[in-house]
Amino acid sequence: MKHDPRRALVITYSQTGQTEIYGRLIAAVWESAGLRAVTADVRTFNMAALPSFDLIMVGVPVFYWDVPSNVVGALSSAPRLGGVPVASFVTYGGDGGNQRNTARRLLKLLWRRGGLPVGMETFGAVSTFAPTWSMGNERRILTFSHRPDEETYNRVRRYAAAVLGRAREGTAVSYRKEFFPADFLRGRPSVAFNKIMTGRHTIDASACTACGICEKKCPVGAIDLRTFTVDTKRCISCLGCINNCPAGAIDMTYLGKKVYGFSEFKKRHGITDSLPAELKKKS
Ligand SMILES: Cc1cc2nc3c(=O)[nH]c(=O)nc-3n(C[C@H](O)[C@H](O)[C@H](O)COP(=O)(O)O)c2cc1C
Repeated sequence: MKHDPRRALVITYSQTGQTEIYGRLIAAVWESAGLRAVTADVRTFNMAALPSFDLIMVGVPVFYWDVPSNVVGALSSAPRLGGVPVASFVTYGGDGGNQRNTARRLLKLLWRRGGLPVGMETFGAVSTFAPTWSMGNERRILTFSHRPDEETYNRVRRYAAAVLGRAREGTAVSYRKEFFPADFLRGRPSVAFNKIMTGRHTIDASACTACGICEKKCPVGAIDLRTFTVDTKRCISCLGCINNCPAGAIDMTYLGKKVYGFSEFKKRHGITDSLPAELKKKS
């Protein structure tokens, strides 16, 4: 059945902004094709409003070889979508990290709610897994070639156009699950393992400026700035706190080594965000 999507939604979960940039670019492509495209954050979007859109894209980073658990929770409770075309994309920080299965799982969450699957894709980004660089393995991150650049932005643009085309035609797609040997470790077991490796995870009250970014970024409400504590049982190890704290006040160790966040890593290596042209115009 053909569709004529007019009101599109691009909803992302993004801890350090890369997934959000790709999502905003998809919205910009759809806007230039004549749609009204809204962007939103999974953490604050009211899922009850999903069926009021007639084309939906969801984008998330791959965390622990999987869809982040807070996103699984949010989408599982979404209302029925009644055949609305749906698509997914994931961003990732290195090859071999179960990316396609993760994009497929994300799409399945929407398809299970009654959406018509019209695409899934994976886009490389800079890895934000802070223990990697904190343990001295910066090279692994810096040499991963599929970082946000014009080539990736072109792939994002082509994907946005292809999804819109399939949505208009009403053409459903299906994807096979890929063999991934460590699939049984994705998500929860990996998070549990990571927590064992993490020694200290708290807030240094003397460095904290109480800006509230860590509380805002935490998807599970595990941070309490009144007491400078992190509820490590509730924490899902997304590293949103340490990666975003502008004061370096998150006190975390990994295998005994002090962990530092993504903003510091970018500063040390002169990494700057180069936005696609469409978004430069807007900002
Ligand atoms: C806690 C955590 C776990 C991650 N796990 C994976 C993974 O399993 N596979 C992978 O390719 N990248 C992994 N990454 C890298 C992110 O997927 C990648 O950096 C992503 O683009 C970040 O998106 P954002 O900037 O929108 O938050 C991980 C990053 C973090 C912080």
